[in-house]
Amino acid sequence: MAFFGKSKKTDEKSDISQIILPAHVGIIMDGNGRWAKKRGLPRKAGHREGAKTFRTITRYCSDIGIKYLTVYAFSTENWKRPEDEVGALMRLFKSYLEEALSDFKDDDIVVRFIGDKSGFSPELQALMTENEESSASRDGMVLNIAMNYGSRDEIVRAVKNISADVRDGKLDAEKIDSDLISGYLYTAGQPDPDLIIRPSGEYRISNFMLWQAAYTEFVIMNKLWPDFTTDDMDEALRIYAQRNRRYGGV
Ligand code: FPP
Repeated sequence: MAFFGKSKKTDEKSDISQIILPAHVGIIMDGNGRWAKKRGLPRKAGHREGAKTFRTITRYCSDIGIKYLTVYAFSTENWKRPEDEVGALMRLFKSYLEEALSDFKDDDIVVRFIGDKSGFSPELQALMTENEESSASRDGMVLNIAMNYGSRDEIVRAVKNISADVRDGKLDAEKIDSDLISGYLYTAGQPDPDLIIRPSGEYRISNFMLWQAAYTEFVIMNKLWPDFTTDDMDEALRIYAQRNRRYGGV
């Protein structure tokens, strides 16, 4: 059930292959903690379940022809969580990244990480690089996993790099425009997200793709991430297909 209106064809379940799909989908994977709490389980159990949903939805997006999928896995602010929870998430990322090397091979998925890798252990950083390198030559869906990612941090980095290039005479300050700024972000060369989905019923952007989301359509789903299914994904895609995107025009 989406807060921002139900798709009109919920009963008829229009064939997803017949609708206009977004090229780039972003997902804020939210609600793992609440899912666990409802069951009297530790929060890390929610993250484990969330990781299963992440795999299912990633594979589904690749199968139906989404070109870019960006998932928000760990923010620059998430380090503030209790040590035990951060530790559990790091272990989850490690085991996922070890398996992902072979897991998404047959799905032809290109794995990229957006965010500041240097915040992670050398072991995790090496796994990230290995995943990126081993999947770079594939030609399927690009999966951006946002880890130690914060959009303000991303913009600050871009501004610093642009300033350095101007200072070093590599860039004429007069040439700075919005396309140039996009090219200094982690998502350089990728289209902006057409659709961002936030499960768990929260109405927040939480420092996710602030620059890239200028004209993104938002769909808020009242489902906790571990409970999110491919049917929910279809529902979000149907809602998106019914939106009238005007990009500031009429
Ligand atoms: C937000 O829910 C979720 C996270 C901070 C972690 C997301 C991580 C995963 C889904 C693990 C899978 C990812 C990979 C790359 C293996 P929350 O804990 O803030 O939920 P709450 O709002 O209910 O407390």
